This record gives sequence, structure tokens and C-alpha cells, in this order.
Amino acid sequence: MPILSTNKLSKNFDGVHAVNKLSISFEAGKITGIIGPNGSGKSTLINTLTGMIPADGGEIIIAGVETLKRMNAHEVPLFGITRTFQDVRLFEQMLVLDNILVVLTERSIWKSLFEKHSKLHLEKAEEVLKKVGLWEKRGELAKNLSYGQRKLLEIARILAIIHSGVGDINVIFFDEPFAGLFPEMVKTVVTVMRELRDQGKAVILVEHNMELIRELSDHIYVLDSGELLAEGAPSVVLARKDVIEAYLGE
Ligand SMILES: Nc1ncnc2c1ncn2[C@@H]1O[C@H](COP(=O)(O)OP(=O)(O)OP(=O)(O)O)[C@@H](O)[C@H]1O
Ligand SMILES: [Mg+2]
Repeated sequence: MPILSTNKLSKNFDGVHAVNKLSISFEAGKITGIIGPNGSGKSTLINTLTGMIPADGGEIIIAGVETLKRMNAHEVPLFGITRTFQDVRLFEQMLVLDNILVVLTERSIWKSLFEKHSKLHLEKAEEVLKKVGLWEKRGELAKNLSYGQRKLLEIARILAIIHSGVGDINVIFFDEPFAGLFPEMVKTVVTVMRELRDQGKAVILVEHNMELIRELSDHIYVLDSGELLAEGAPSVVLARKDVIEAYLGE
């Protein structure tokens, strides 16, 4: 059974069918790639599946049980779903370390700043920051990091959310995590995604780099104008003429 699926999910913006009657599903222990030209609805799909924007129609089915049209953003982790943003979102005025500790400790930002952090919290923070190569930067303000480092910090926060035990995170969306990363950073993110998959998470990768999509995905969905153009194994889907044309037609 898929861990998360949609049934004729739709989202319109002033007459634009950003997501149009889309029925797809995501499985645990698999990396699912989502590709499609700019504006084909990839980010909108993630926004509806993470409760950031309400869908206009159709259903979201979580673990075959919950059927929801609308989740509030704060409820999303409770349903086991988390994400990264195409435009990185961090606590800019906070230290790198504190960006992680707020996730590991107290829900409220205000309280977490004054909370005494236990040794365990610090150990977890060290572990996730080391994983993405940012432990040396722990004393910097998030806003002073380079673009790539900011994306890595966002990924470290996802790992911290998983460690925090709030909600049992089992679906993780990555919205163009590799854009603008140096090769070493790409390797780090590839490793993180594979580890999450091997832990049994459903990992969803929205990405324009076809080499990475081919290398990482177990299954691919191709979107075009909010609709499903193709799906299947990367080797098959990426060789299809209509898929290649959808990209070249941009
Ligand atoms: N908040 C919004 N208000 C109005 N229109 C929107 C909004 N968000 C997305 N759209 C429109 O919906 C369509 C799908 O956009 P979306 O951002 O989901 O595409 P995408 O596949 O993520 O593109 P990209 O590869 O450029 O990130 C586009 O036509 C876009 O202009
Ligand atoms: Mg997008």
C-alpha cells in the first residue's frame, strides 16, 4: 500500500490549472522523482500535500486512512510529512546551531531560545550538522551562510525533525535540493536521501538535473501543465519522445 497518494487532486490559480486531476502515489523505502517543465505544478503539488495551500478538489490519502482536503501547516509533521523549500526558509537571525535546536527541543521559538538544552539535544544537533558538513559553522548566523550552506542547513533541520520524534516522519519532499550546490555538497545530499530511503522513508525528489533524477529515482512522475504526462522507471520514462519534447518545448 502506498504511504501517501492523491486521487484527482486539483489546484487552480485564477483559472490556471496548476495541478489538474492528478492521481499519483508514493511508496515507503523508495525515492520517487517528480520532473516537468517550469510551471508544470511540481511545487504546487508539494504545497497541497504538505497542507500549505488548500486543494480545490480531489483527495489526499495518507497511509490509506486519512482523507483530507486541507491540513494546517503545523499539523503536517503529525501526519508524518515534511519538506524542504525551493526558496530556502530558515530562522535567518538565529545561529546555525539554534536553527537545529529549536526543532529538537521546544515547539515555540521564543521558549526554545531560553530553554536549557540537554546534552542529548546538543549531541543530536552535532550529529545532524556534521552529517551535512556544517558543524564548524554552528556559531554563525543563518543569514551569513552561503546559498549552498543554507540549503544544507535546511536539510539538517529535516534530519533534526526526524530525530525529534514529533510525528513519525515517513514522507519527505525535497524541492530542487541540488540547485546551486557545489559537487561536494551534491554528494552529501545524495547520501542523505539514500539513507532516508534505506530507513524506509518515502523520499520525493523534485529536480531539473536529469542525471541526478536518473541516478536516484526508483520511479518517476512527469508533470506537464499540472497533468501526468508519464510515469515509470527512469530508464524508460527519460527515453520517451513526448517527455523529451515537453522539456525542450519550454
Ligand atoms: N501562489 C500562486 N498564485 C498564483 N499562481 C501560482 C501560485 N503558485 C503557482 N502558481 C502558478 O501555478 C503554476 C504551477 O507553478 P509551480 O510553482 O507549481 O510549478 P513548478 O513545476 O514548481 O515550476 P518550477 O520548475 O519553475 O519550480 C504556474 O503557472 C504558476 O505560475
Ligand atoms: Mg517549483
